[in-house]
Parts: sequence; C-alpha cells; structure tokens
Amino acid sequence: MGQWEIFLSPYKQAVDELKVKLKGMRSQFGIVNANSPIEFVTGRVKPLASIYDKSLEKGLAFEPSKRLGDELGDIAGLRIMCQFVDDISTVTELIRQRKDMRVVEERDYITHNKPSGYRSYHMIVEYPVETIQGKKVVLAEIQIRTLAMNFWASIEHSLNYKYKGMFPEEIKNRLQSAAEAAFRLDEEMSSIRSEIQEAQAYFSEYKEASNPNLLSEKERDTQ
Ligand code: GTP
Ligand code: MG
Repeated sequence: MGQWEIFLSPYKQAVDELKVKLKGMRSQFGIVNANSPIEFVTGRVKPLASIYDKSLEKGLAFEPSKRLGDELGDIAGLRIMCQFVDDISTVTELIRQRKDMRVVEERDYITHNKPSGYRSYHMIVEYPVETIQGKKVVLAEIQIRTLAMNFWASIEHSLNYKYKGMFPEEIKNRLQSAAEAAFRLDEEMSSIRSEIQEAQAYFSEYKEASNPNLLSEKERDTQ
C-alpha cells in the first residue's frame, strides 16, 4: 500500500494543480465579463480497484510503475463541462495553446460517438509536477463534454456498474434513445445560444451590482 501511495502521489498533485488551473480559466472569463466556455470542472485520481481492473483488462502487471501510468493514461483524470457543444472546441484550443502541458493524444467521440451512444472529447496531456525528488512528468486525461453529454455518461456509467456492461436489450435501447435525446437537447440549446447568453450576462451584472461578494464563486466542486 505504501508503494502505491508513493506512486500515486504525483498523479494526485497533477489532479489538484490542474483543477486549480482549469477553474482559473473559468474565473478569468468571469473577470472580463465574458460568457465562460467552461461551466464546471471535476477531477479524480483513479481508485486502486479500477487501476487493478484496467491493468487486468489490458494484460499489464499490476505494480506501481511509470510504465503502468503511461499505459493506462487516465490515472489522473479531469473533466470539463460546457454549456454548449461549440464551447468544446474553444476549450480544446485553449488547452492546446497552454505552455504548462503538452497534448499527446486527442479522441473525438463527438463527431464519432461510441456505439454505446457515449459522446465526449478526450485529450491526453503530459503534465510536469515538481516534487521533492525533482520533476515528474505524468499523463492526465481531460474529458470535455456538454452538461447533457455528462448527464448521459454518468447515468450510463452507473447502469454499467450494475449490469457489468451486459445490458438487457430493453435498457440498451433506452440508453440509445436517451443519447439521441441528449444530442437533440444540445442542438436545441445551440440554436437559442445567443438568447441564453444575453440573459446570463444580464444576470451576472445584476448579481455584481447587488452583491459584489457573491460574484465569481459560482464554482461547484463536485469531485
Ligand atoms: P480505456 O481503456 O477505458 O482508457 O479505453 P480507451 O483507451 O479506448 O479510452 P476511451 O477514450 O475509449 O475511454 C476512456 C474513458 O472515457 C473511460 O474511462 C470513461 O471515462 C469514458 N468512456 C468511454 N466510453 C464510455 C462509455 O461508453 N460510457 C461512459 N459512461 N463512459 C465512457
Ligand atoms: Mg484511455
């Protein structure tokens, strides 16, 4: 256990730092009074039980090693939720431009959703953390998705857990039609985007005027 804790600590540090940085991007949009393409950010270190399951699946030795971290790619995981589908490309571009991380892989499950109905944009980044033993470069997976995509994925994930991926036909069909409904919801929201954003800009000015202390902390830390 001690060895695992040591192995996981730079990943934990990466998650903590990246959460601060990505949430920082959100508040910077607030400061310049622009609608943020980021609604909220969560992060987690992959639980040891999931590291175990995935290393079995991938035929990797379950031992605390740099190789395992590189092969899994998602021991450090961040999620960025957006209001609108178009915000996703804004966020991916902001991430590509950053000097403190390097994008090494991108997967677009938005234009090509998975057969399950899953949609999201995935980026794997190399991220250096400074430790008392010097610099350690770890991989982190950043998943970028709309609130509707996130709703679907979290429901599907719980059901997956329950049925271990062996969905009864009925559930599978319902999940697929729920995925289509989420897709249509995103389309509908995009079509009234300017309406929505005007209202949101008006609301945040109103809040600022009535209570300056309430302003920027619309941050939700849902882990
Ligand atoms: P992994 O071995 O899981 O990393 O697969 P991969 O290397 O092919 O990566 P992929 O990009 O397919 O998936 C990585 C992550 O995306 C998973 O750990 C999940 O968080 C998420 N994900 C992928 N497919 C699904 C899905 O069908 N449903 C849900 N809920 N999440 C998914
Ligand atoms: Mg992966």
